[in-house]
Amino acid sequence: MFITFEGPDGCGKTTQAHLIVAALQARGEPVIYTREPGGTEISEQIRQVILSTRNLAMQSETEVLLFSAARAQIVAELIRPALSAGKIVICDRYADSTLAYQGYGLGLDLEALRAITHFATGGLVPDLTVYVDVPVEVGLLRRQRGETNRLDQKSVEYHTRVRAGYLALARAEPHRWVGIDGTRAIEHVHQDILTRLCQFLEQKGRER
Ligand code: TYD
Repeated sequence: MFITFEGPDGCGKTTQAHLIVAALQARGEPVIYTREPGGTEISEQIRQVILSTRNLAMQSETEVLLFSAARAQIVAELIRPALSAGKIVICDRYADSTLAYQGYGLGLDLEALRAITHFATGGLVPDLTVYVDVPVEVGLLRRQRGETNRLDQKSVEYHTRVRAGYLALARAEPHRWVGIDGTRAIEHVHQDILTRLCQFLEQKGRER
């Protein structure tokens, strides 16, 4: 089972993904957590290049290809083998981030991005995508408390397009996406995600 967590910057999905991993582990489920960009030795090296404030001259196309290169590696090295071994893989960001950020955010051609993503992943699509939604201002305010990287220097307008992109992607594939209101208290959001996830896993179990 391949489950991804998506959302605008500062939505809290990393916290929520960790809480879900802990909850599933407590139930004895075979689950692993990973994140993008990163998750393997090679992909973490690529992450450094993407996020470094030394690389302010980076072109949008370069950015896409680096995210996709990191993704190709994590899919082949970590995600596919784990799925083949029957594990639940929880991945913090995946290909929908490229469509939302580089597609809707930067305005790159969505069909080109889908083709590159298909090449990088061999067509691996999540079974379920948990979308943690917060208004842009809420996310950016939360973000101000953390350390900054190259991508944190984008404008509010950019993040507004990213969020609108996520909402469009979720509307286009309602069976894969579960929308969660991320403005509430951490525990409340967690219970909401856990309930939806257990429903999904039970339904999948019945189908098997
Ligand atoms: P990270 O520090 O992991 O942020 P977050 O906790 O919000 O996931 O940095 C990842 C950043 O990279 C985040 O701003 C989203 C962006 N990103 C893209 O622009 N495209 C992508 O394909 C991916 C995977 C991430």
